Amino acid sequence: MANRIDGFRIEKIESIQSLEKCAELLMEAYNAEPWNDQWTKEKAWEKLTCFYNSPKFLGWMAIRDNNLLGACLGNIEPYYIGDYFYLKEMFVSVHCQRQGVGSKLMAALKNHLEIIDIKTIILFTSKDGFPFDFYQKNDFNIMEGMCMMNFGAIN
Ligand SMILES: CC(C)(COP(=O)(O)OP(=O)(O)OC[C@H]1O[C@@H](n2cnc3c(N)ncnc32)[C@H](O)[C@@H]1OP(=O)(O)O)[C@@H](O)C(=O)NCCC(=O)NCCS
Repeated sequence: MANRIDGFRIEKIESIQSLEKCAELLMEAYNAEPWNDQWTKEKAWEKLTCFYNSPKFLGWMAIRDNNLLGACLGNIEPYYIGDYFYLKEMFVSVHCQRQGVGSKLMAALKNHLEIIDIKTIILFTSKDGFPFDFYQKNDFNIMEGMCMMNFGAIN
């Protein structure tokens, strides 16, 4: 277990202005290992804004001394046996990964969902790499019998 970072707070994302810092952090986190993407800040902002402007958006930020350490965000979506939360993005600064920030964000999300009686979270991630370990540690399971498909190139 690595050192834990402390002295940070978890805040709900309440305004679109917060997305600017979130976009910078998304770009930083996904342009690093294990993804090595090539996000620009503009594209990251566009993506997050898309989620923010969707119905039933929910998001949280981890902040310390006015610095954004991480964020998680998504939307509640209708489902016939009970609505679920679709976790669309979750990222922590490469400078403080594996220090408990992601787990605290996840705890805030789960706590809120419990209060509003949403019992399920779904997400999409790679089977390879440490984000998978993170979700397993946070009690997520592989959805047996399901797979992600695409038409056309995605990478
Ligand atoms: C995935 C991510 C959000 C996790 O946030 P985090 O703050 O680093 O996670 P935590 O410190 O709370 O880690 C909790 C547990 O997850 C697992 N974990 C997290 N990072 C890990 C790593 N680099 N290697 C192995 N296990 C890891 C461990 O089990 C860890 O518990 P432990 O340290 O007690 O062993 C973060 O690493 C990240 O932003 N990654 C890049 C972007 C990304 O992949 N987002 C998710 C895409 S679906």
